[in-house]
Amino acid sequence: MAYYRINGGKRLEGAVTISGAKNAALAIIPAVILSGESCLLENLPEIEDVRIVEEILTSMGADISRTPDGSMRIDPSGISTFSVTGEMVSSMRASYYLLGALLGRYKKAEIALPGGCAIGQRPIDQHIKGMRALGADIVIQGGAVKARADRLRGAEIYLDVVSVGATINIMLAAVAAEGQTIIANAAKEPHVVDVANFLNMMGANVKGAGTDVIRMQGGRRLHGCTYAVIPDQIEAGTFMIAAAATRGDVIINNVIPTHLEAISAKLMECGVTVTEGDDGRDFFIRVSADKRPRAVNIKTLPYPGFPTDLQQPMMALLATAEGNSFIMENIFENRFNHVPELAKMGASISISSRTATVEGVEKLYGAPLCASDLRAGAALVIAALAAEGESTISQIHFIDRGYEFLEQKLRALGADIMRIEE
Ligand code: UD1
Repeated sequence: MAYYRINGGKRLEGAVTISGAKNAALAIIPAVILSGESCLLENLPEIEDVRIVEEILTSMGADISRTPDGSMRIDPSGISTFSVTGEMVSSMRASYYLLGALLGRYKKAEIALPGGCAIGQRPIDQHIKGMRALGADIVIQGGAVKARADRLRGAEIYLDVVSVGATINIMLAAVAAEGQTIIANAAKEPHVVDVANFLNMMGANVKGAGTDVIRMQGGRRLHGCTYAVIPDQIEAGTFMIAAAATRGDVIINNVIPTHLEAISAKLMECGVTVTEGDDGRDFFIRVSADKRPRAVNIKTLPYPGFPTDLQQPMMALLATAEGNSFIMENIFENRFNHVPELAKMGASISISSRTATVEGVEKLYGAPLCASDLRAGAALVIAALAAEGESTISQIHFIDRGYEFLEQKLRALGADIMRIEE
């Protein structure tokens, strides 16, 4: 098992380039199934979750190859199974997108119930409700979701909770449904828009993605295409917070600044300098800090609110803020697994229900730490980079699921971080 050894206290300085968005990629790769034709996907992140989806599709009969620049060509025409129930599938959250894609293309699917980070109950009732509304018969049996439909017909679907996964999954199935589908109370996250753009590039008719009402005219013939995935908003936010936590000065290249407004606004409220720019090729954001941040309050909300995926990294920053911060986690009920680890470093944080009260301390100190999930791992890396002394972080396979070349990117910014393979 690999772990990180980090000697903290080094200011991050320089420039970093953000990779393609994990959560967009994990939906777009299975969405290729819908066209039945070959697609070329560019700007995919090289992360473990992408490798797992690639392996799942290959095991189903898709032909996948890489171009020299790292793009992925997927030819789904050889897919010969609609049942994907191995451990790889049940270990990851995004495997639920195979349900919408297979149901759309073949009108049948059997998928192991999705796993993913242990941050709450994470039901999929809204996915199922949406697909039933489109005409699918769905049962859950033996740890798998089994879906089948004679034909899919467009429907009006109101989501009871704003769910990124359900919005995208219903979009995938609805592309193949005859007539109009309306998803109301839809998620507005950047990757919802990215998936809609990809579907439209394949010939679908999806309108309104990015607002809370998405309208689709289904049943069109889709075709292969070339598509570049958007930059990862959460990876960008992680580097922004790491720059602030180490009182550093970092230019973050290949970002879409509007996707980062909630994070930029909170960092500025902390007293951190955040500027946006355009170098003629890409947008960038520069984050610089030279003193302890001021305490701020955070409420996680669906986009465009503060993203739950950055709640944990932000807490690592606020652990050394001047004053008390209140952090309310509104999306997932159990996303505070990083708190006992931060406490080992000297942080003073108490939890009551969904709210963490963070009493800022002057400094954190290195400690042996354990990552419990992907973003908890990112939070611990940030805390360790900012802390005095040495930290180790175990269970970094969680971090590998969502961050491309994390230690190389941090080392290039001056961090003292080593991956040790045991
Ligand atoms: C996705 C992201 C995850 C991110 C989250 C919120 C992927 C692979 N994962 O997760 O990184 O943290 O969005 O931005 O893209 N809910 C229901 N019923 C459902 C679906 C969701 O009650 O059928 C609830 C969830 O328990 C949660 C809330 O809705 O409380 C939002 O969940 P959702 O947006 O669906 O998150 P995921 O798709 O699991």
